[in-house]
Amino acid sequence: MSEFESATTEGPRTVTAPRAKGEPRFPGGPAADPAGSHHERRIRSFQPRRSRVTPGQADALQRLWPTWGLDVDGLRGLDLEEMFDGLPVVLEIGFGMGEATAQMAAADPGTGILAVDVHTPGQGNLLGLADRMGLSNVRVANGDAIILLREMLAADALDGLRVYFPDPWPKKRHHKRRLIQPEFLTLAARRMKPGAVLHCATDWEPYADQMLEVLTAHPDFENTRADGGFAPRPPFRPLTRFEGQGLDKGHAVHDLLFRRAGS
Ligand SMILES: C[S@@+](CC[C@H](N)C(=O)[O-])C[C@H]1O[C@@H](n2cnc3c(N)ncnc32)[C@H](O)[C@@H]1O
Repeated sequence: MSEFESATTEGPRTVTAPRAKGEPRFPGGPAADPAGSHHERRIRSFQPRRSRVTPGQADALQRLWPTWGLDVDGLRGLDLEEMFDGLPVVLEIGFGMGEATAQMAAADPGTGILAVDVHTPGQGNLLGLADRMGLSNVRVANGDAIILLREMLAADALDGLRVYFPDPWPKKRHHKRRLIQPEFLTLAARRMKPGAVLHCATDWEPYADQMLEVLTAHPDFENTRADGGFAPRPPFRPLTRFEGQGLDKGHAVHDLLFRRAGS
């Protein structure tokens, strides 16, 4: 019986052999801890969670990962030009279950989407969606976006960056885990082409205010809004799953579109 079956079917639990460190949860699939050898004590913007993977997601991970997936190991540079056949490339950080990512890729086949998250079920879900929709402009990266940006992408590599509904970390003592901070923006700006747009969205008002404040103050970004404020949701961004949950709770959603300054 596979590890998946033992975790999800009724009846006596089967004890499976422990995996060696770094051995994929699914044969040929994403690494268990892609940057496990990366020595750093940085505070992470995500919490590792071991979530249930459906049979469909497991199948997609095993079948499609070798072709469309990559691990964020921090050890090699990525040639986006080759990976996406010369298409302009947008990085999406934290795609969750990937429904919005797949929709955006289908609506804009002339743009490559490098989608990164640490969430295994979401990786399987996005691979499955891309496969069923016949998309060839999506790649799924497994690991920490900071390591991807810092170690694996060249300067001016990105034509855009999307961060939709990053974990809000509402407790004050967790604010340091929030992704959108000055140091992150400095790193992101170096990997973006001048004129490329960083598009953020959140349903957590205090985080929206923080985003607007740090983006407005950052010398490498300029607001695409003449009034210096939030933007309405652009028609190309579909509603995301996390956004739907926020709307159900009565939250207001804010979009921010900032251009990388310079030439
Ligand atoms: C609140 S969810 C939003 C998911 C999706 N964008 C949506 O709107 O439904 C945030 C996602 O960001 C991912 N995440 C947070 N920090 C990350 C990082 N440093 N690198 C990659 N993914 C990250 C989490 O695993 C999670 O799936």
